Amino acid sequence: MTVIIVANPKGGVGKSTISTNLAGYFARRGESVMLGDTDKQQSSRAWLGIRSKDLPLIQSWDEEGGQLRTPKGIAHVVLDTPAGLAGERLKELLRIADRVVVPLQPSMFDILATRDFLAHLAERKAVRERHTRIGVLGMRVDARTRSAEQLQRFVEGLGLPVLGYLRDTQNYVQLAAHGLTLWDVAASRVEKDLAQWQSVIDWVDRD
Ligand SMILES: Nc1ncnc2c1ncn2[C@@H]1O[C@H](COP(=O)(O)OP(=O)(O)OP(=O)(O)O)[C@@H](O)[C@H]1O
Ligand SMILES: [Mg+2]
Repeated sequence: MTVIIVANPKGGVGKSTISTNLAGYFARRGESVMLGDTDKQQSSRAWLGIRSKDLPLIQSWDEEGGQLRTPKGIAHVVLDTPAGLAGERLKELLRIADRVVVPLQPSMFDILATRDFLAHLAERKAVRERHTRIGVLGMRVDARTRSAEQLQRFVEGLGLPVLGYLRDTQNYVQLAAHGLTLWDVAASRVEKDLAQWQSVIDWVDRD
């Protein structure tokens, strides 16, 4: 089982968008997947609530008595996390994480706010001991622009990989509103976006 955490203390950067789509990808591949929500707003849970039962199943993760317990017999766990994640809560999550995906928008403010978080992650004992893989996913960015270049330079300067770039598109907004992911609609409708996810999936899948 792999546990993938999607985290950035900055709000509104795309954590829930990435979490739901990643879970949707595993489900479409026919693998058992749980989508967990450590967010008080419970956005992923609400999203699961509107997802049709006819679609590939994404199970929800229930925290028993506030305890994070990894379920048995599940191939993938994807955990959405809240803005402001820090301290004990973060520590607890890092104890079970195999991968951490950090969404980042290409603005100097976001980059500065995220820098400390990435540095903090790299220093964590759990991350070092578990060899947790950390990667940054550029959000709402056109890969051909100077801001993408800037983001890449910043991330690579920290010794971390850029997993890819997801463009700014209403597809994500509209799909989310219907409990859908990129893998639940005709590929022709979201062709560009599916292509952008390939490098993310390759990274997630690699042992
Ligand atoms: N690539 C994208 N293109 C366009 N809109 C996007 C994209 N990614 C996310 N959004 C939209 O931006 C908003 C914020 O995204 P999302 O909820 O995924 O962020 P978040 O990091 O989970 O926020 P929070 O910190 O509040 O939990 C949502 O309305 C979402 O649909
Ligand atoms: Mg969210």
